[in-house]
Amino acid sequence: MIIIKSKQEIELMRKADRIVANTFIYLREYIKPGISTKKIDELAESFIRKNGAVPNFKGYYGYPATICISINEEIVHGIPSKKRIIKDGDIVSLDLGCLYKGYHGDAAVTIPVGNVSSDVMQFIKDTKNSLLAGIEAARVGNRLGDISHAVQVYAESRGYGVIRDFVGHGIGRDLHEDPEIPNFGKPGIGPRLREGMTIAIEPMLSMGDYHTITLQDGWTAVTADHSIACHFEHSLAITKNGPDILSLPDNPDDWYDYF
Ligand code: MF3
Ligand code: CO
Repeated sequence: MIIIKSKQEIELMRKADRIVANTFIYLREYIKPGISTKKIDELAESFIRKNGAVPNFKGYYGYPATICISINEEIVHGIPSKKRIIKDGDIVSLDLGCLYKGYHGDAAVTIPVGNVSSDVMQFIKDTKNSLLAGIEAARVGNRLGDISHAVQVYAESRGYGVIRDFVGHGIGRDLHEDPEIPNFGKPGIGPRLREGMTIAIEPMLSMGDYHTITLQDGWTAVTADHSIACHFEHSLAITKNGPDILSLPDNPDDWYDYF
């Protein structure tokens, strides 16, 4: 069942998502060669708590950390570790959420570190734009399949693989609510999009094939062919005036300067 939110609920979700987005702005300067992914996790957790929210990934199906940090061929759900050190040339996906006054925020970005080849830089930009293509389709009167299709067409027409094993989702009082939002599918099918739906759209693309493998840790998803992967996510509300992106920082312009 897709839960419709009131205006007041959407404003609480915006606060949760704003804390998430502000955390990314805060973390941005630390994503440099030499830092461990564990240290990034600690910085994220303390920032979230200082802002009156709590981590929502920690403990979710037993996930052990505040943030997911997935590097290069890792797609999602990388577990922070003292031993994993960021190095020049990495592309680092940060996926983060928090719970604020009973509502969940959730977003993800991918950050290039130091010298990254121009084709990988273009891939990051294309993944970001595939998310924007999906958001553009999140309009009253469209159907869920229109979002999925928009992301898929954007990505596949540029030669990328669309990961199928992980999907976007409704969000609200639960981190994952109905509906599931695949990044591939046919237009014109699925539930009609209505005012007050709140969803997280999160394309995960690869520079190769879309098949995935989960590592021995039981969490980290990697591309089966070890091709580079990228992930961006926004949480948004569907309104009669179009999609309203909730996961933006205090100064929304910062988002587009940084990510
Ligand atoms: N960030 C994921 C999502 O976007 C959820 C994280 S799963 C967790 O849906 F177990 F790591 F929390
Ligand atoms: Co999500």
